[in-house]
Amino acid sequence: MNSSVGAGAPGPAKIRIRHLQDAKRAGRAFSMLTSYDQYSAKAFERAGIEVLLIGDSVGTTVLGHDSTVHTTHEDIRLFTGAVARSVSRPLIVADLAFGTYQTGPADAIRHGVELIRAGAEAVKLEGGHEIVPQVRALVEAGIPVMGHLGFTPQSVNALSGHRVQGRDHQAADRLADDALALQEAGAFAIVLELVPRSLAQRVTEVLQIPTIGIGAGPDCDGQVLVWQDMAGLSGFEGKFVRRFAHLREELERAAREYRGAVEGREYPGPEHSFD
Ligand code: KIV
Repeated sequence: MNSSVGAGAPGPAKIRIRHLQDAKRAGRAFSMLTSYDQYSAKAFERAGIEVLLIGDSVGTTVLGHDSTVHTTHEDIRLFTGAVARSVSRPLIVADLAFGTYQTGPADAIRHGVELIRAGAEAVKLEGGHEIVPQVRALVEAGIPVMGHLGFTPQSVNALSGHRVQGRDHQAADRLADDALALQEAGAFAIVLELVPRSLAQRVTEVLQIPTIGIGAGPDCDGQVLVWQDMAGLSGFEGKFVRRFAHLREELERAAREYRGAVEGREYPGPEHSFD
């Protein structure tokens, strides 16, 4: 089986953790997108996206909450099933929801097992040294773990809002130590969110496991975006987001045209009607 991943490369039939590690070693960048439903998952699979994340961002992007702390385990379980049933190639990672692992290794394993049963192939959890026992326990239970450092949205209240993390020396050293601790505990990759480029580069160089950046500059081994931001559906205009499409405008245009056609009795036409 060809084990390459990355833009333009012919890839394996199924993306495994080892393919991300191969990509890091070969210096090939890989892509992760959030996905929560059948049609986005299939489109991303066809586009060759290597990793699909059923993020707790489903709470803010789909369910209308203002923070991921409101996303529940049941929400993530439901959407994980939808994505997992729809694709076969990408690696499927699901978030452990706020409150499902901070309480200790036993809770982390219980919720992790349920996400794996729903179709996830790995789980992601936020935090550094303080969650090392949970990471170890999950890995020992056979559940692969993706870490998440920097701005960790489930701690938005403790972090006083959405802010770049690790700007001063002490905070940068702390984050680098956390990354090493997660690697040591068995994590197979780490998301770095909202950290200065130089810090992401330093962590990426030091770690043997891949880093996946969001607002962390171009030196990470992979990149991740929330799909509705990437495709211009959410209207989110963060500095780190490039809109690769303008779906919001396109959807509005289509809906307006549909309404106009209905009002003008020009839709449905004879070709849409049954004799
Ligand atoms: O839930 C999510 O979408 C995430 C990404 C921002 C990495 O955790």
